[in-house]
Amino acid sequence: MDAALIDRIRSDMAYEFGRVGPPDGFPAFDDIPVARHTSDEFAQLENAHLWPRTWVIAGRAEDVAAPGDYFVFADLGVPLLVVRGTDGRIRCFYNTCQHRGAPVVREARGSSRRLRCQYHSWTYEIDGGTLVSLPDERDFVGLDRSVRCLPQVSCETFAGFVFVNRDPAAQPLADWIGPIAEIFEPFDCEQLREIYRRSVVVPCNWKVTAEAFLEVYHFRHIHSRNGVSVLDNRGAAMGLYPNGHSRMITPYSKQNCQRVGMDSWDDWKLLDQGPFATAPRVPAIVDCTSTAISLFPNIIIPLGRIGFPVLLFWPMDKRSTRLDWIYYAPTAGGRHDWGDGELPQHWQEQRAGFDQIMDEDMMNMTPMQESMESPALRGIPLNYQERRIWHLHEQLDRVIGPERIPSAMRVPQLLHDFIER
Ligand code: FES
Ligand SMILES: [Fe+2]
Repeated sequence: MDAALIDRIRSDMAYEFGRVGPPDGFPAFDDIPVARHTSDEFAQLENAHLWPRTWVIAGRAEDVAAPGDYFVFADLGVPLLVVRGTDGRIRCFYNTCQHRGAPVVREARGSSRRLRCQYHSWTYEIDGGTLVSLPDERDFVGLDRSVRCLPQVSCETFAGFVFVNRDPAAQPLADWIGPIAEIFEPFDCEQLREIYRRSVVVPCNWKVTAEAFLEVYHFRHIHSRNGVSVLDNRGAAMGLYPNGHSRMITPYSKQNCQRVGMDSWDDWKLLDQGPFATAPRVPAIVDCTSTAISLFPNIIIPLGRIGFPVLLFWPMDKRSTRLDWIYYAPTAGGRHDWGDGELPQHWQEQRAGFDQIMDEDMMNMTPMQESMESPALRGIPLNYQERRIWHLHEQLDRVIGPERIPSAMRVPQLLHDFIER
């Protein structure tokens, strides 16, 4: 986050607080068709055209720290395996043996210079997935090993996260992420420690769960404590980026400014983080706002100087989503010395506070799908504060291909003039 972006956010927030309606020229949204969240047809379009060709987080580079380290990854609905090669590069292969289809590796994680299928011992190397040996090769007539290597999918890292994309011809990850990458830069994301993780199945379409983290219009209604909201949604400064990504920087409420010793909503300064290790280059704005990033389609990251959770939304079927959150902390400062022991008190409190917010969101979402499936819901009207949700849906249509989507389920492309490039 450079000074120009921080200045820009400050002036955007002042504007947001002062406006009496959406900015001039901002489009009126059509209703989002409910069938996008409820129909088999739309879920099938996503399964055919979104998930097989989008970048998603599979894990962290330190999960495969040494050559030969691997882990399996099945959240895209097909068995994959991520492995660090002898050349140090991280690659992703289908975990399906090219003999009779057994899984090549069966453990969730491990380390091996060769991947040997336990069924008949076909063996693959880890730099290209080449089939290097098989027993009784003489009995396969005309077997061409070169066409029996493990199929590879695209795999790259950003900020220490291993991203995979089943499309072997995927746009390079750095191009896909684009200018929003700059915001991650001071967080030293290459060196993180996992603090804790939770995984919950929510009975809603994956977009219902993701949308709950794309606006703060709901914040004071379900996250207030004794009538006090930590954030003031009216000042939220949002940025829409290419490829469906977005940011939302929300100022503290008056009461919360007072609590932490700020004179006004933009009196941004580094706050005392007590016993937490912090990433030293993170700017003060992050301490004094909620700074949340969305990477299309299923990643939400509310950044923090003491660390941050990564929220991932995995569709299980059209009505259920596995919501994972994994809290990471910077490793600078050497204050993460509890090893595998119990979390220290300050992290237990942080975990309890964050999980409470997540539980409030999930309690809110749990009955939504059934209610949305009622014929009573005729469409979903979005307001200007909810524009990041519209941005997600526009990108979804661009990725699926608008021509494939029945017109009653499509959303018009309205926000092209409001994208930061
Ligand atoms: S199925 Fe893998 S070696 Fe036969
Ligand atoms: Fe929420």
